[in-house]
Amino acid sequence: MADVTADRPKGHPPQVLLLYYSYTGQSAKVLEAAGEVFRERGCEVHSAPIEFTDPRYAERFSRFPMRSVWPDFLGMLPAQTLRKTGDIRTPDEVRNGDYDLICIGSPTWWRTVSMPLRTFLTSHEARHLLEDKPFAVFVVCRRYWRENLTAVRKLAEKKGGRYRGEIHFGYPGGQLRSMLSLTSYLGTGEYRDRSLGLRIPTTNVSREQLEETRRFSAKLADRIFGKETRTTEPSPVEPS
Ligand SMILES: Cc1cc2nc3c(=O)[nH]c(=O)nc-3n(C[C@H](O)[C@H](O)[C@H](O)COP(=O)(O)O)c2cc1C
Repeated sequence: MADVTADRPKGHPPQVLLLYYSYTGQSAKVLEAAGEVFRERGCEVHSAPIEFTDPRYAERFSRFPMRSVWPDFLGMLPAQTLRKTGDIRTPDEVRNGDYDLICIGSPTWWRTVSMPLRTFLTSHEARHLLEDKPFAVFVVCRRYWRENLTAVRKLAEKKGGRYRGEIHFGYPGGQLRSMLSLTSYLGTGEYRDRSLGLRIPTTNVSREQLEETRRFSAKLADRIFGKETRTTEPSPVEPS
């Protein structure tokens, strides 16, 4: 049974919120792909990027590429390990809407939820947004998705959200090469073939992963809004 039932007033399309923190744009890209699918099905889609404003940490994330990749990147390890929160700014969409589905985009930082998203999910605003609302989690990372996903789910459920599904993406290469590829990208803003003399794969979300996101989102839309939200008919079969 769909979560959003037929008694939704006519002319009031289902409301979807894309909530995320994104430094290099990967979570944003994944949620945009999901948003396209919801829009095609007649939903009204709103974006709520979280801004990281904490004076201790935000400066390093205010520019891309990072100025000094190793200190900037490693410098988040202690705070992340202690699951610290910091200062953030959220757009009005977080406070003003009444949503039928909240899609949460969560990049992994040191194996867990990034400080900005954790801060939001532990805030009073999060209860106002999530209480009794369906949510789905979209995790992007180099490799370590599970702890991030579990933590986002738990935090959102603690605020009254109703978990409806997840999708997660990692990037190619073993431990060493995927790390070199990530740090090379964070430090140069470019995709290079080599780092420290080793061949490295491409980091970040691929086209195939965006396709996977679209398929996942279509199924999610069916489950949450029912198939009646589809606005585009399947193409007729052409006679041969
Ligand atoms: C500070 C920092 C820490 C990270 N730590 C991890 C990690 O522990 N495990 C992992 O798989 N990826 C890690 N990553 C990689 C990110 O999850 C990955 O680059 C993701 O695409 C970032 O998403 P965004 O572009 O939406 O910010 C880290 C990235 C940053 C910037």
